[in-house]
Amino acid sequence: MAIDQVGLLSLAKTARTDMLAAMDLLPMTTPVANVRGVPFVIAQHASAAQQVLVTDADSYKKPGVVRRIIQEGLGQNLFTAEDADWLTRRKTVSPVFALHNVEALADTMAATTAQAAQHWQAGDLDIQDAVTDLTIRIALRGLLGATNETADVAADVRREFEEILDWVAYRLNNPASLPATVPTGRNRRHRAALGRMQASIAKLIEYRQANDDGSLDILSQLVRAQQDDSTNLTDEAIVDECIGFMFAGHETTAATLTWALFELSQYPTLQAEVAAEGSRLLQAGSGELVETVQSMQRTSGVIEEALRLYPAGISIVRTARRATELEGTKVRRGTMVMIPVYAMQRSSLVWQSPNDFNPTRNHADAGAGFLPFGLGPRRCLGARFARTEMHIALGLICATWQMSYTQNTPPKPIVAPSLRADGGLTLHLKQRT
Ligand code: HEM
Repeated sequence: MAIDQVGLLSLAKTARTDMLAAMDLLPMTTPVANVRGVPFVIAQHASAAQQVLVTDADSYKKPGVVRRIIQEGLGQNLFTAEDADWLTRRKTVSPVFALHNVEALADTMAATTAQAAQHWQAGDLDIQDAVTDLTIRIALRGLLGATNETADVAADVRREFEEILDWVAYRLNNPASLPATVPTGRNRRHRAALGRMQASIAKLIEYRQANDDGSLDILSQLVRAQQDDSTNLTDEAIVDECIGFMFAGHETTAATLTWALFELSQYPTLQAEVAAEGSRLLQAGSGELVETVQSMQRTSGVIEEALRLYPAGISIVRTARRATELEGTKVRRGTMVMIPVYAMQRSSLVWQSPNDFNPTRNHADAGAGFLPFGLGPRRCLGARFARTEMHIALGLICATWQMSYTQNTPPKPIVAPSLRADGGLTLHLKQRT
């Protein structure tokens, strides 16, 4: 369906100040929407998303500008790589995210969460801030393998990472700002922070090379994979991938947890059900956690609904690398194609009462219309890690605390660049008895 020029102008104007409001303006009735003569196409039905991300994925690549900014900010990694370089990285790195490896990290995730949740105090708490702190702690231990011996290095990594994230967010919001190579004050500070972060992760790698205690964190597994000559994994490549994992995995998981906890604060009975599933985690012996996670059906439903209503990435964008067609619409080389994940996952054509939080939905029924982790060859590599972490975090937090939302106005979602609560999200905590 062709949108008229007036429709496009109004969409573009709204998008400049409020991306979510622009999503509400999308004409969702046809698989594809475009404006004749404008190199921009919206792939808004499951069939179109499936074509762009899976069946015709070879015709598209990630847009240059976003890739360039993330690459300048963090270095080259799986998230930003393309073509043969991407394929080699994905093949090398995928095995460390295999089911049994991620399952082995459940103990670390649970210990880190229990420790954090016990430190929280009854009363008002900015839960967005608290779970952001929690996910970074889990990332430092589960992704980078930080231990008590390397706690100081991990603290450095954390400090530098926060500075780097600020720089990336600034550049994404101000694409006309000067690239990292131009020595402005901001850029110099960023490059110095990146250099320090790379050096700190290199120290963690050195530590693991000298002390292989069988640890199953992602960094240790990559260090072990170095022994296999066919991987050609250099220390520098491990550093870059680890920074990429921290970037791709930390804020996205924190944002999803924040919205899940907000929704739970609205439904005390549901919250008690998640708490009951969480107390099974507390009773589980070592090695039994994974089985318990798999049995947490109510918590699973809550996570899937949070991912549906508040997808951390509200859209997935591609550029056509060659002329192709999409659901009968001609797509010229260089055309930007946007898959509006947020709008698709709230479309009344696909979901009954789409704005209701309903953890009993069968999300699989929507097929490619439910795509919080993307689809196809470039789908999220960390989805299993994130889902395991979120089951454990929600279960243990609810088993410890009863939460209510006592503010007068609902939280306002903003794109920052994950879908976050503007100004934080305060919940009132009471010890669960
Ligand atoms: C709730 C949490 C998360 C969400 C919603 C999420 C979402 C996504 C999405 C939508 C993509 C695809 C982007 C595209 O096609 O343009 C993606 C890619 C990716 N994610 Fe995640 N992610 C999450 C957590 C994680 C975690 C915990 C990690 C790592 C530990 C991770 C690592 C990656 C990587 C490496 C890619 C790039 C894969 C490739 O291009 O081959 N993500 N993620």
